[in-house]
Amino acid sequence: MNERTPIHMVDLKGQYDRIATDIDAGIRRVIESSAYIRGPQVGEFECALAGYLDVPYALGVANGTDALQIALMALGIGPGDEVVTSAFTFIATAEAAALLGAVPVFADIHPDTFNLDPAGLEACITPRTRAIVPVHLFGQPARMDEIAAIAERHGIPVIEDNAQAIGASYLGRRTGGIGTIGTLSFFPSKNLGCYGDGGAVVTRDEDLYRRMRLVANHGSARKYHNEVVGVNSRLDTLQAAILQAKLPHLDAYNAARRAAADRYDALLSGIRGIRIPGRDPDGVHVFHQYTIRVTVGDGIDGGAARDDLAAHLAAAGIPSAVYYPVPLHRLAVFAPGGPATARFGALPHTERAATEVLSLPMHTELTEEQLVRIAETVAGWAADRA
Ligand SMILES: Cc1ncc(COP(=O)(O)O)c(C=O)c1O
Repeated sequence: MNERTPIHMVDLKGQYDRIATDIDAGIRRVIESSAYIRGPQVGEFECALAGYLDVPYALGVANGTDALQIALMALGIGPGDEVVTSAFTFIATAEAAALLGAVPVFADIHPDTFNLDPAGLEACITPRTRAIVPVHLFGQPARMDEIAAIAERHGIPVIEDNAQAIGASYLGRRTGGIGTIGTLSFFPSKNLGCYGDGGAVVTRDEDLYRRMRLVANHGSARKYHNEVVGVNSRLDTLQAAILQAKLPHLDAYNAARRAAADRYDALLSGIRGIRIPGRDPDGVHVFHQYTIRVTVGDGIDGGAARDDLAAHLAAAGIPSAVYYPVPLHRLAVFAPGGPATARFGALPHTERAATEVLSLPMHTELTEEQLVRIAETVAGWAADRA
């Protein structure tokens, strides 16, 4: 292999090449059967996914955004209800609630993990709170024991947004299967990604599973006998076949991500102005993203130092990305008088994270040479700033 291979943010082609025979055979089987809609591969994958997450029920849906919406609909959440979540996440987490007329209520994150800080959670709960939605951001589990204890005290269900963390675990339990409902995304770049859109909901509660199946299928359990207002959200059979071929490799994929993260940690720790990601000792992080903080701007430069490092990396042929430059409470969609309502107080840790975070290339195919090259480029930038 060429010593200086190009560095990608994700490398889906490299991953495909290793299991091409299985993927191609799975796709061919679907095409030969012509069972494109809810073919047998969907049910088989749902069973395998439930087994993997150690839950009795899994339902494939069209994407991770629908998964959140279907979970909220099955819980009967609608206009005037409040859903407590993080503002430091992808828009889908809050958008699903807003679409249903519910009000997202943003709690602050813990600065070490970027996840909902249970310490500030209880103050956000009101008699209108109908769900808490922790996000296992960047592949790191939120503190589910503390969140579940608060939820239980108030009799509120917990929906785990597990889009970024399939395979992670918290105190020995796989994320997604800990709360009332878990939602998943199989967007191509996710730790378990298909070759288009895909998602799932999982639960231990049979009644909720039935309701989610109803909602996801136009509100009908029996064709042409619709009972509730639902949506059309199916996991595509071709995507299910691809996911079936990839699921057995997920633990190895996550191990490769963790090994790359360990190398990054070793190579980057001690560099002034750079903070490596914090790890919750109670969780197993699966590094959907490897996200450093660029602290030389002291949280008051509006992200200028971080953007400068990103430009320096780009000039050296190294991609990077900012997840997320604008926290949800600062988006126009939730601005006062804007199209949707959100409620929030001061979110200092969320605000600061948005100006400091930078995600470095993270995928299953990173080589030692690439990791060293990335770390040396970061170190070179930091040395120039010192
Ligand atoms: C935290 C989080 N929630 C929800 C989603 C939505 O998933 P999808 O893109 O499959 O709709 C994503 C994916 O981008 C995500 O990162």
